[in-house]
Amino acid sequence: MKRAIYPGSFDPVTNGHLNVIQRASKLFDELYIGVLINSAKNPLFSIDERVSMLKEETKDLPNVKIISFKGLLVDYCKENDICTIVRGLRAVTDFEYELQIAQTNHVMAPEVETIFLTTSLEYAYLSSSIVKEIASYQGDISKTVPPYVAKCITEKYASKQRDYK
Ligand code: PNS
Repeated sequence: MKRAIYPGSFDPVTNGHLNVIQRASKLFDELYIGVLINSAKNPLFSIDERVSMLKEETKDLPNVKIISFKGLLVDYCKENDICTIVRGLRAVTDFEYELQIAQTNHVMAPEVETIFLTTSLEYAYLSSSIVKEIASYQGDISKTVPPYVAKCITEKYASKQRDYK
């Protein structure tokens, strides 16, 4: 069985991520979406919320499994018989960072390959940070995330506003 993982923060999942997930799911028997548990970052959504949004948005893809992980990605790959890491490449600006991660992972675990899927052009500008920036000013995010995720983001910012008052 060929099992791959698409790791990331997914804070929150965007249409760009979902495009990569749909395409990668066709290339492997099983595709894990690995949500990184990273206490150093200050995410908008909790791990459970990010996992739950991803589960909702991938429920029609039977070979996609949403998991969360802590620690080194290559350790998770070795423990779970995962042979490939999938990452999306939006633009040249992503390349240096992605190359460094891929090479680091290769040194630590040469048996695990990294492959890159180029993001579809319509989503090349898109990132979770951009979505949060627009949403924090009550802008229209309907082209950037699916409706359920947009609802979660709107509710999150509304609850934050209530907390400030
Ligand atoms: O969506 P992101 O934040 O760009 O994803 C980054 C991610 C999760 C792929 C990367 O931070 C990661 O794999 N972290 C786990 C820790 C690890 O294995 N680090 C070694 C590679 S530098």
